[in-house]
Amino acid sequence: MGQKKVIKKEYRITVVGCGHVGLVTGACFAELGYRVCCVDKDKKKVNNLKKLILPFYEPGLFELVEKNYKRGKLEFTTDLKKAIRNVQVIFIAVGTPPNPDGSADLSSLERIAYLVAKNLNSYKLVVEKSTVPVQTGEKIKETILRYRKNSKPFDVASNPEFLREGKAVHDFLHPDRIVIGVESERAEKILRDLYSSLKAPIVVTDINTAEIIKHASNSFLATKISFINAVARICDLAKANIDKVAEAMGLDPRIGKEFLKAGIGYGGFCFPKDLEAFLYISKKLGYEFSLLKEVKRINEEQKKYFVEKVKDYLWILKDKKIAILGLSFKPDTDDMRFAPSLDIIEFFLREKSKPILYDPQARKEAEKLLKGKKVKFAKDPYQAVKDCDCVCFLTEWEEFKHLNFKKIKKLMRMPLIADGRNMLDKRYLESLGFKYLGIGT
Ligand code: UGA
Repeated sequence: MGQKKVIKKEYRITVVGCGHVGLVTGACFAELGYRVCCVDKDKKKVNNLKKLILPFYEPGLFELVEKNYKRGKLEFTTDLKKAIRNVQVIFIAVGTPPNPDGSADLSSLERIAYLVAKNLNSYKLVVEKSTVPVQTGEKIKETILRYRKNSKPFDVASNPEFLREGKAVHDFLHPDRIVIGVESERAEKILRDLYSSLKAPIVVTDINTAEIIKHASNSFLATKISFINAVARICDLAKANIDKVAEAMGLDPRIGKEFLKAGIGYGGFCFPKDLEAFLYISKKLGYEFSLLKEVKRINEEQKKYFVEKVKDYLWILKDKKIAILGLSFKPDTDDMRFAPSLDIIEFFLREKSKPILYDPQARKEAEKLLKGKKVKFAKDPYQAVKDCDCVCFLTEWEEFKHLNFKKIKKLMRMPLIADGRNMLDKRYLESLGFKYLGIGT
């Protein structure tokens, strides 16, 4: 009976790239019982990981890394060649940052494919986990064929990851679906085996289709957000309530309630970059995906609109003290990449306001990105709001919902709340004497 299980756990896995996707993938596969080697070219990152210092904050990840590192299921190295030679399955989870023209920089993938070719000592399954443009799998295959020195077999596969930062461990272990893009039965079997203990529908397809599934999923979610934000603008003009509109729309299962939260728009290292990459690749293939251009434009405009609302109320922003609560692009992460807060802070600075910033996790990252800017950081929300003319909520951290607003009102110079995430109780705040500005409420 145990035979299948024993064989299954014998798969040894290398995950290249210790970023969000890579580290979560590595730690979760180790948790599922496989021996996993996580590789990164950043020596400091790898040394820190060996000391159990993680490169970013992600709920639940530390516990998995610690447990599996200590029980020998998880190791960290910078030696990619060895990590390729020792295993059968190689997940590529390196970054694919945007080039100035919007295309994805795939040079790290080429390097890995080259090293796989040079270290092809036995069958290898090379799996794309990072978000990559459609047809990247073909390029990886061509690269390995071009540089390999023997005829040892290999497969390339696409297995896009749909995890969300802040919920990454949960999303990996409880996926809605697992997408497997393969060209051979052997590759399909390995990937099915690897995920066999997770309960989720598996969609098996060709590699190009799997790559498009990832592009289309992220772009569709971004479209939902821009759609609801556009409707929120109309709600403001018509004096209607976007939260109720979204609630009622979401009850229709054809629409669904997720990703209908109006606010200052989406950020992070996935949606903005992936949308750009999908636009680029569509054009390259011969289709102008104009809908996505509009999604992007609405998203950009939303941040300006938020600051304009504050400006309309305060009239002059110069020298006004603006408390900004929440800096990360969403709660439960310290990730500041493409965070809407960065643009909003910049708009306030252009108006010569005085921003005082607070975030429960992202302060260190924010300090790096805002170095040299005229901003101050507060150690807690109450210190941030002291003598302020406005407090802006930009990330819906749970702790902000439980603040003592009576105390905040006493501390502020002018009781103005601008809620960029429609996360607070407007009626309650108004009853305390605050002026409340939401988006479409
Ligand atoms: C997103 C996708 O949700 C994941 O499925 C995907 O795997 C990931 O990108 C990726 O490609 O790696 P993530 O960027 O972690 O995940 O964050 P989301 O939870 O999707 O939020 C993205 C942004 O949209 C945030 O700034 C969030 O505040 C904003 N958002 C989300 C809204 O403004 N309104 C909503 O209703 C939902």
